[in-house]
Amino acid sequence: MQVYVYRNEEQVAKAASMIFASVISEKPDAVLGLATGSTPIPTYKRLISLNKDGYIDFSRIRTYNLDEYVGLSPEHPASYRYFMNEQLFDHINIDKNNTHVPSGLGDVEKNAEDYDAAIERAGGIDLQLLGIGHNGHIGFNEPNPRAFIYKTNIITLTQSTIDANSRMFSCSDEVPRQAISLGIGGIMSSKRIILLATGRGKSSAVRDAVKGDITPLLPASILKAHNNVQFLLDEDAACLL
Ligand code: GLP
Repeated sequence: MQVYVYRNEEQVAKAASMIFASVISEKPDAVLGLATGSTPIPTYKRLISLNKDGYIDFSRIRTYNLDEYVGLSPEHPASYRYFMNEQLFDHINIDKNNTHVPSGLGDVEKNAEDYDAAIERAGGIDLQLLGIGHNGHIGFNEPNPRAFIYKTNIITLTQSTIDANSRMFSCSDEVPRQAISLGIGGIMSSKRIILLATGRGKSSAVRDAVKGDITPLLPASILKAHNNVQFLLDEDAACLL
């Protein structure tokens, strides 16, 4: 695992967007694994600018997002499909048919199986972008003794995640209790992974992921077992390292 520390979140976003640019210039039809949350927003803003200025072409890019809430339609403003359209897809020259977010509607177990099969058919993920939850979750893989599940699966959210994500809803009762998420195996199968963390609130999860043992009680700790992973941190997120 390589750890890079930058002055602030803007510098983190700059570094992350440069990694995207280089992966896409080497492989114009690359498969990107994308993430939601506040952390990647500055990176998405930079990707939009790089696309507008002609430095990145998304026309042949395919994307697979990490996760989605169970029960939210793509039109719900707190759904991750809605987020991705708003924050990225609506502003770049990507073919929306090539963008995928797991579906939290209907037969979610079947959706989960189909999602893994689709990623495999696409040739696997070339570059996976990750954030990290305050409790060390990646995607929506919450800490628990059985967190290291290989496949895309249905996850019951912890209270800490419900509280953290309630800012996107009118109250915490509205936050769905379950989500569909790429499994740890799906994440670890990516050829390259970059994890972004900014702000002091992430510092203890970052410290435990970087310095602690590999444990399903801190799902991001598994990333130490991957041979091509970079953590891009701002000084606040890195303050306990
Ligand atoms: C959600 C997402 C994660 C994300 C995490 C942190 O739970 N499922 O993929 O990493 O939130 O979000 P933020 O960047 O807003 O702190």
